[in-house]
Amino acid sequence: MISIIIPTYNESGNIVELLQRLFGVMEKTGLKYEIIVVDDNSPDNTAGIAGKVLPPQYGKVIVRKDKKGLSSAVVDGIRLSSGSIVGVMDSDMSHPPELIPRMLRPILAGECELAVGSRYVKGGGCNGWPLKRQITSRVACMLAMPFTAVKDSTSGFFFFKKEIIDTNKINTIGFKIGLEVFVKGRYKTVREIPYVFTDRKAGASKFSTRQILEYLKQLACFI
Ligand code: GDD
Ligand code: MN
Repeated sequence: MISIIIPTYNESGNIVELLQRLFGVMEKTGLKYEIIVVDDNSPDNTAGIAGKVLPPQYGKVIVRKDKKGLSSAVVDGIRLSSGSIVGVMDSDMSHPPELIPRMLRPILAGECELAVGSRYVKGGGCNGWPLKRQITSRVACMLAMPFTAVKDSTSGFFFFKKEIIDTNKINTIGFKIGLEVFVKGRYKTVREIPYVFTDRKAGASKFSTRQILEYLKQLACFI
């Protein structure tokens, strides 16, 4: 079973299209899967809308009362998942669902335990982000270099064998749940699969100065 975790906050303009594309991609793989949407009680009714398009046999929508943040939403999703392989992706189509089979293949073949959707390997890139955000992302990855060999260490798009992670050891502050997995995961091999990040068309990013400060705090905890 593959569990796909999708954190959401005010994504009413994106979640339906994402779920439909995900169904299309996952049905073609023939694999057993579940989709777990973890919503922080979005005022725009993301959870209600998601619940209508997500039949119970394909997963569930979890609504948390308070806005506890992206990383913490993903950790809750992992804890409630039943797959031996877990994936994490954004709900705004920046992470193309069509890449998932390419991420799953080497894990299922036993070639790696972690596959990361990567903007910073050959073939990867970024579309639609302002220069300032691109520079922030590059600097963030550079700062993480002492702690992980993953080049796109700030990626929020990754699949892994659940056994490589102890959720009690994960720092749940901020945005960078991927970095926690890349640094603390007990894996032998990681693959970075190139993709082009496309900025969202609907809704607004939740990234702000606060996330930058939380990121620096998160890095400090690795020292
Ligand atoms: N449950 C929950 N709670 N979900 C949240 C919260 C929250 O407080 N904040 C954000 N999310 C969800 C969004 O709804 C979206 O699905 C996903 O987390 C990413 O948030 P965005 O606001 O779209 O972030 P971004 O596009 O600026 O940055 C993303 O892409 C980068 C590149 O891959 C993040 O995934 C970054 O971590 C990543 O580096
Ligand atoms: Mn986004």
